[in-house]
Amino acid sequence: MLQIAEHISLKPYHTFHIEVYAKYFVEVKSVADLLKLMDTTIYKEYPNLIMGGGSNLLFCKDYEGLIIKNTIKGIELLNEDDTYVYIKANAGEVWHELVQYCIEKGYGGIENLSLIPGCVGAAPMQNIGAYGIEIKEVIQEVHALHKDSKQIEIFSNEACQFAYRESVFKRALKNQYIILSVVLKLTKKPLLNTSYGAIQAALAAKNIEHPSIKEVSEAVIAIRSSKLPNPAVLGNAGSFFKNPEITKEAFEVFSKQFPTAPFYPSINEQVKIPAGWLIEQCGWKGKVIGNTGAHKEQALVLVNYGNAQGNEIYNLALAIQQSVKEKFNIEIEPEVNIYI
Ligand code: EPU
Repeated sequence: MLQIAEHISLKPYHTFHIEVYAKYFVEVKSVADLLKLMDTTIYKEYPNLIMGGGSNLLFCKDYEGLIIKNTIKGIELLNEDDTYVYIKANAGEVWHELVQYCIEKGYGGIENLSLIPGCVGAAPMQNIGAYGIEIKEVIQEVHALHKDSKQIEIFSNEACQFAYRESVFKRALKNQYIILSVVLKLTKKPLLNTSYGAIQAALAAKNIEHPSIKEVSEAVIAIRSSKLPNPAVLGNAGSFFKNPEITKEAFEVFSKQFPTAPFYPSINEQVKIPAGWLIEQCGWKGKVIGNTGAHKEQALVLVNYGNAQGNEIYNLALAIQQSVKEKFNIEIEPEVNIYI
């Protein structure tokens, strides 16, 4: 049954836990419901926002439109051979539950992405990534509903135009599609990526030389839990900014001035600098300003210490951006979607 509610608090539905209201709110449990919703006057007359786990959103004011919470569930084994399995997961599945399901079945490829908050539908949108893996490495297809034609279209990995925290759904096709499901190509024979220093250290501390996918997942969970605040306890949206990428030439100038800065090579001869380091160097790490601040273990994560308004967090983000620009001449760009 499709029920459009009015004037709903979004506090429980997004991980910053800010008290804002949606004019209309609806939960959609099936594609049929979604199609029915698209025929309603409210859908046709108001702007809409598709919400999964609400883990990458900052609301600075009430949402004067329709929030569509996608809770279309289901995980299905589509195909398998000796080496690979093809798993279709619907957008409303909780991402970490999918990771756990795959680990239990022995399907490798997403164990490094353990404990990332949010739902499956958001994963391709921003090409989620952590600890040496991005979801683009295992995505076979993305199935999405075209809002205008109401047809389901299948995007190949290439058509998704994945890049660091980017996809075609955030850029050229923004707001045109509703992601319904993803098909992942996972391995039956573990092909682990334990190159990330903290994973190696966590495994070494337990004397694990030949880890299973479950042990890699446990290492990632331990690292995340030690560094990143749990959004159920302290409102936050994970990394607030993307790590900036600068040209090789700019990096040469930068590294002479700041020789201790961490950096990673990136695509197209660019160099990626961790925004967390830049923010910490500007003195923001652990700083509390009113109801908000940059987290004490990871400066890239802005937190809501209680009753923060969206604007307080937004203003903090602006001040951080400005000080990074002044000190390093580097622009940092929010990763979080901000509704001003
Ligand atoms: N660093 C600092 N100070 C800080 C934070 C980090 O100096 O306050 C330094 C660290 O010492 C390290 C470097 O920055 O040398 C990188 O830090 P970290 O490994 O914590 O990763 P990150 O680059 O800050 C990215 C992702 C995270 C992901 C981690 C692990 C982005 C925007 N963030 O953070 O993703 O978990 O790598 O792979 O790319 C998220 O997107 O919400 C998220 C948490």
